[in-house]
Amino acid sequence: MKKNKKLGSLLTYFDSIDSTNNYANLLLKEKKISDGQVIIADFQSGGRGQRGSIWESEKGKNILFSIYIEPDNLLICDQSLLTKFTSISLCEVLSLFRLDAKIKWPNDIVVDGKKICGILIENHIEDDKIKGSIIGIGLNVNQEKFEIEKVTSLKLQTGKDQDRMKILGILLDYLDKNRSYLSNNKKHLNEMYLRNLYNLRVNSNFYSDLYGNFSGFISDVDSSGKIEITTDLGVLSFGIKELKFC
Ligand code: BTN
Repeated sequence: MKKNKKLGSLLTYFDSIDSTNNYANLLLKEKKISDGQVIIADFQSGGRGQRGSIWESEKGKNILFSIYIEPDNLLICDQSLLTKFTSISLCEVLSLFRLDAKIKWPNDIVVDGKKICGILIENHIEDDKIKGSIIGIGLNVNQEKFEIEKVTSLKLQTGKDQDRMKILGILLDYLDKNRSYLSNNKKHLNEMYLRNLYNLRVNSNFYSDLYGNFSGFISDVDSSGKIEITTDLGVLSFGIKELKFC
């Protein structure tokens, strides 16, 4: 097993950039990025979210960064472990502020049901392996007003301004600790992910193109990252984009 450098040993800061994920992708294309490298910005003019959405963030208020990692021997079928180790790390860090942060499947981090952090993972695949992964994280820290509903920040939750750089340092330490489980304890990551899952075993309403509106409860997320909902029809399994929470 290769010895990886500590995450964030190399950090590039931008006052303003289109998207830290775009920049990391560019460096990767030019073979100018190395394991553990972090790209961070105070403002993104073209911040990207999941499913082609836009990630908006007030300048200088939040933590916006991308981290590049080269996992050891991680198969495509295990790619959900990247989501898992990242989201677990975020919940652990938020718990240091006495917040009960949960993972809303697959990888939104919520507090009191409101989104506090988004994760955008872009993988570089060769043969059947993940050769490199760009993990983009947008954590709402000191922003107090949002255009959209059901969004929050650390300041709104704790009532205090928070030190972004200190939080980044702590988060990198937790990401560093948890990345080791990618190769040596996948079971732990699966268990921890489930333990931190939002609305696990709570009766809820869902929508899928195949089944329409239905109710049931989340009973599991399998090792490939698919969510399992126990319903009157039996246990239904869904991949990303196949299920909506109502
Ligand atoms: C989501 O839609 O929930 C994912 C949001 C991810 C936002 C982060 S901010 C840093 C990085 N750069 C981007 O353009 N997006 C990610």
